[in-house]
Amino acid sequence: MSASKPVLVSGIKPTGDLHIGNYFGAMRQQVALANSGTYQPFIFVADYHALNSVQDAVTMRERTRELVTAYLAIGLDPKKVVLFKQSDVPAHTELCWIFDAITTMPYLKRAHAFKDAEAKNKEISVGTFNYPMLMAADILLYDAAVVPVGQDQKQHIEYARDAAEKFNRTFKEEVFALPEAFIVPDVAVVPGTDGQKMSKSYGNVIPLFASRDELHKRVMSIVTDSSGELPKNVYAIHKLVRSDAELEPLYEEQRGSYKRLKEMLFEDLERYFAPIRARYEEFTENQSIVGEVLEAGKREARAVSETKMERVRKAIGVA
Ligand code: ADP
Ligand code: TRP
Repeated sequence: MSASKPVLVSGIKPTGDLHIGNYFGAMRQQVALANSGTYQPFIFVADYHALNSVQDAVTMRERTRELVTAYLAIGLDPKKVVLFKQSDVPAHTELCWIFDAITTMPYLKRAHAFKDAEAKNKEISVGTFNYPMLMAADILLYDAAVVPVGQDQKQHIEYARDAAEKFNRTFKEEVFALPEAFIVPDVAVVPGTDGQKMSKSYGNVIPLFASRDELHKRVMSIVTDSSGELPKNVYAIHKLVRSDAELEPLYEEQRGSYKRLKEMLFEDLERYFAPIRARYEEFTENQSIVGEVLEAGKREARAVSETKMERVRKAIGVA
């Protein structure tokens, strides 16, 4: 890998039930950018972030394997990308602790994710509270220039920038570079079957690897009103796979025929996702590749992050 290319870092939690919002909002861009040859890409399974909610060993292992399989199925080229598990690289938690020491509680209390959890009166774990600092470590360890994510992660990237600046200022050395979020405006918030943001917590998802029958069922369940106008929730999802120029005449011609428009959307989604689903099944049959990819990723990510940590430890005076 060339040292001069900008670094790309992104991660996703192995919390299961990947949906097309994750795909169009984050994973597709991650894969396209990572494979493009423009960046030095690091993509990882954020299993320690997931530990805040996934607290069962069998489930954690299964979801991790599924997520790596999903990345391979959607075309991530493991020869071009360092694909690894966060927990395989101890520097992430080590650097998180160092950021904790220079971060105040009131500052972390301003995080949207924390405020949302608090508003819902949830019992918040220390790990959830501290989530932005582990994420800052994930990003800053590799000197990321760009971090492709969905809109909901924007604030976390700002926390990472702040952590970098605070560290550099406190220890009077430019150890960390400032990352930028990479958000594609058109798909920043992919809507679900009810028109709200698609999210597994809202029960409005179209699963990324839905079978043909399940896909059909989910598309038919898209909420429409009975005004006879444009079914905007159907259109919004259709727009993910077809341009406005193609869709506008179609929706005009079929005005009022919600069922027909949904059938068309279903066929388009099926055409788009059937090959991805087939590759997912192929990789599921051949799981040894998952272990091999993660093993290679672990070696590479450890080497890069350890070099960074040597500098960090010197800067803070523990080495
Ligand atoms: P969920 O909301 O279903 O729990 P996650 O929080 O696990 O999804 O998100 C994983 C990644 O997918 C993040 O980068 C997030 O920004 C992106 N993402 C999730 N849902 C959407 C959506 N509806 N539109 C755009 N991006 C999304
Ligand atoms: N918080 C991200 C999410 O919920 C996952 C994540 C963890 C991440 N660490 C990261 C994304 C570092 C980008 C960079 O989807």
